[in-house]
Amino acid sequence: MSEGAVKKEEKPRKFQAIRGTRDLLPPETSLWNRVEQTAHEVFATFGFGEIRVPIFESTDLFARSIGAETDVVSKEMYTFGGSAEFSERVREGRMEGTLSEMQPEEKISLRPEATASVCRAYIEHNLNQLPQPVKLYYMGPMFRRERPQKGRYRQFYQIGAEVLGGSDAPAIDAEVIEMVMTFFDRLELQGVQLDLNSIGCRECRPKYVELLRAELLKVKDRLGADSQRRIETNPLRVLDSKLESEQGIIATLPHVADHLCEDCTKHYAAVKHQLEMRGVIYRENWRLVRGLDYYMRTTFEITAQGLGSQNAVCGGGRYDGLVELLGGPATKGIGFAIGEDRLILSLQESGKAAVQQGRDVYIAWMGEHARATAIRAAKDLRRAGFSVELPPVELKFGKALGQADKLGAKYALILGDNEVAEGLWTLKTLADGSQAKFTEPDLLEHLRKQKALSS
Ligand code: HAM
Repeated sequence: MSEGAVKKEEKPRKFQAIRGTRDLLPPETSLWNRVEQTAHEVFATFGFGEIRVPIFESTDLFARSIGAETDVVSKEMYTFGGSAEFSERVREGRMEGTLSEMQPEEKISLRPEATASVCRAYIEHNLNQLPQPVKLYYMGPMFRRERPQKGRYRQFYQIGAEVLGGSDAPAIDAEVIEMVMTFFDRLELQGVQLDLNSIGCRECRPKYVELLRAELLKVKDRLGADSQRRIETNPLRVLDSKLESEQGIIATLPHVADHLCEDCTKHYAAVKHQLEMRGVIYRENWRLVRGLDYYMRTTFEITAQGLGSQNAVCGGGRYDGLVELLGGPATKGIGFAIGEDRLILSLQESGKAAVQQGRDVYIAWMGEHARATAIRAAKDLRRAGFSVELPPVELKFGKALGQADKLGAKYALILGDNEVAEGLWTLKTLADGSQAKFTEPDLLEHLRKQKALSS
């Protein structure tokens, strides 16, 4: 048997999307589009402009900003390339050579989030020279190698926003939160709950962390292995623990709000006041610490209905000093990111996922003259904004109408050679089976009126 024949008998491998990634298909993608369109509209009313940043960046950018010890950076990033020699040079501070010479050797990672990239772009394009603050938003895929489950994927989508500039006025924090709540309100997201906290600044946080560490050491034996480890690496993360057996112990730990410095106390009080002025309802949650290192002062998380254990639909907070840490000018910053996958899930679970489906007009044509007219009619209708299905081959009227039904078309436009000769086209409303005849211009007018009535 020749080699070719052997190959023919082999069953071709059936490829599947990689674990933790998934295809988004119509009609669900219409909902994604509606959500994204609403974000464009709502964010524009708050004066935000869209930024598009690359899908991959220098690994070092994420390590420095999110924190090398965080789960996201130490366990979850997809990282490629990078020569050992380059890593050595970075470690030893030998950064000689031009940037373009160095870059191909540098390790790169798929972005696990976009705040770091937005800060890099702010520095790279001297956005500090624009009127401040600069208000930017983004949407797109992020990548984290987490254990996949409902609402948690390895490629997931975020819609986020960042405000960067010279001021940390509490009204900025409040307006950013007001914007995301307005967006959720517009989408009729159900069961929205905003949790708020302040985790202090470089002055007061380290003191609180030390106090927390000391208190945790006293109860170390009663904590689980993860929390025991975190006493050393990051005691704040112990507050995140969902472990039933630890809840009673955590409840007795000192609250950060009682250990904020004067400036942070004032800032936190003012943020709450500003939220109240905007009618934004929040719940204070002293255990809300967030998993990324760049946060300070205001932190917040929003949960929504129908998501099970992965119920955080948005997380955010203030990150003054991050731009400086990346080599830029002294800059204040605050922002958030919404998990779009979870937002969509919640809308679907609560029945708020209605999207318009199906075609407006299905053109049932028969005959050569009718074919030419049908092509022209489809062009005109589409130009007027109607969604049109034009069957590529001639079908008997009965079959064509059956297809129109299956596709959920509102109307069937019936074009036979007779209709074309008469100049009178038959429009059938599929919901009730009624039929009426129209001249070409009248038909367009009629459809426009009906569309206006139904919207
Ligand atoms: P984050 O809390 O890591 O914050 O992510 C924000 C949101 O992204 C989460 O609340 C969740 O809805 C969604 N998300 C995170 N990981 C996954 C996943 N594996 N699958 C599905 N959804 C996920 C940040 O990323 C910060 N950059 C937010 C920010 C912007 N802070 C200031 N500015």
